[in-house]
Amino acid sequence: MFLQNKNIVLGVTGGIAAYKCAELIRRLKEQGANVRVIMTDGAKAFITPLTLQAVSANPVSDSLLDPAAEAAMGHIELAKWADLLLIAPASANTLARMATGMADDLLMTTVLATPAPIAIAPAMNQQMWRAKATQNNVAVLNERGVAIWGPAQGEQACGDVGYGRMLEPNDIVAQVVAHFNTDQQQLLAGQHWLISAGPTREAIDPVRYISNHSSGKMGYAIAAAAHKLGAKVTIVSGPVALSTPSGCQRINVDSGQQMYDAVMEQVRCCDVFVGCAAVADYKVAHVSEQKIKKTDDNEQMSIQLVKNPDIVASVAKLTNKPFTVGFAAETQDVKNYAKGKLQRKNLDMIAANDVAKQGQGFNSDDNALMVFWSDGEQQLPLQNKQSLADALVLLIQQKMHG
Ligand code: C5P
Repeated sequence: MFLQNKNIVLGVTGGIAAYKCAELIRRLKEQGANVRVIMTDGAKAFITPLTLQAVSANPVSDSLLDPAAEAAMGHIELAKWADLLLIAPASANTLARMATGMADDLLMTTVLATPAPIAIAPAMNQQMWRAKATQNNVAVLNERGVAIWGPAQGEQACGDVGYGRMLEPNDIVAQVVAHFNTDQQQLLAGQHWLISAGPTREAIDPVRYISNHSSGKMGYAIAAAAHKLGAKVTIVSGPVALSTPSGCQRINVDSGQQMYDAVMEQVRCCDVFVGCAAVADYKVAHVSEQKIKKTDDNEQMSIQLVKNPDIVASVAKLTNKPFTVGFAAETQDVKNYAKGKLQRKNLDMIAANDVAKQGQGFNSDDNALMVFWSDGEQQLPLQNKQSLADALVLLIQQKMHG
């Protein structure tokens, strides 16, 4: 039981996914959580308070101005009682109201009044999720530290296909467990994770090199997330200006070839390999032993490049390969390129980011990922790299075990 004695206030808002809340409450309680439900008027059109009262074994609160409910547990008391305020499903309307700080019903008042962390599991039509207004609201909430879990991709109640489905109850519970994780809750205990991170430097001569803008932040955040959940973690790192996450082992390398050698040496005893490094695709064919001089008669010069070994693909070719996760940084047609790479490199999972988008990807503190595996995909929306890494590590853990 990973949620023993945790107090969770579950806010249920209006959307067809509200019917999944009974199952969600059961799963949370199975893990030892105490659950108190707040329903909006919209939610009650989809599932009855009586159902959620029965599964939560607590009275359901639905009104700000109900003397009976306030007598049992006042709304400020409820806000204080919570260790986590989870809103699932969170409708587009709810996101907008949270973003503007409304306080005209019990749930919105609790959002403002609670000192507890807040997490939302959005659920809406795919077009509504993609709408600029919704995405702006998500960005505002993310900025305020609200954890955004999902939405997932797939067929919707309205017949559309796309991102907007609420995460499945089990996936939400996994996020809650990770949120509360402490040293006693070692989901990844006994596992060894190997993570490549940062850029590589391909020497041209003793003073020059070819490199890229990778900061290593995403790989280091994944390392920290895996370690937090109890894994033994080794980072094979290109040159970065980051300190090693506590408890992780770090092997420093410069070139793609060195990174390949270090990874291949470490990988045999690993359960998971995450190739997060931005390895140079090409290295210099003949590295000059002396500094190359500019000469008066040469207006142009050329350097011959040859392919670097593909590290993640080499790992995925091993007979006893670990669960192998690649990254794809793309500037266009992200989905197709990423899925192509997943197949070509024989990966178990690929996490793609659109580096052409401002405020995410290379060198930024925030990122958004589209994650693909052989028979599914999930969007991890824009958020800081550490909470994104927490979500990705959980997803890897879930898919590793089918
Ligand atoms: O083919 P592309 O470079 O776009 O693939 C990106 C993925 O492959 C990343 O996971 C990256 O770490 C990995 N990669 C690698 N070795 C290379 C090139 C890329 O492991 N030489």
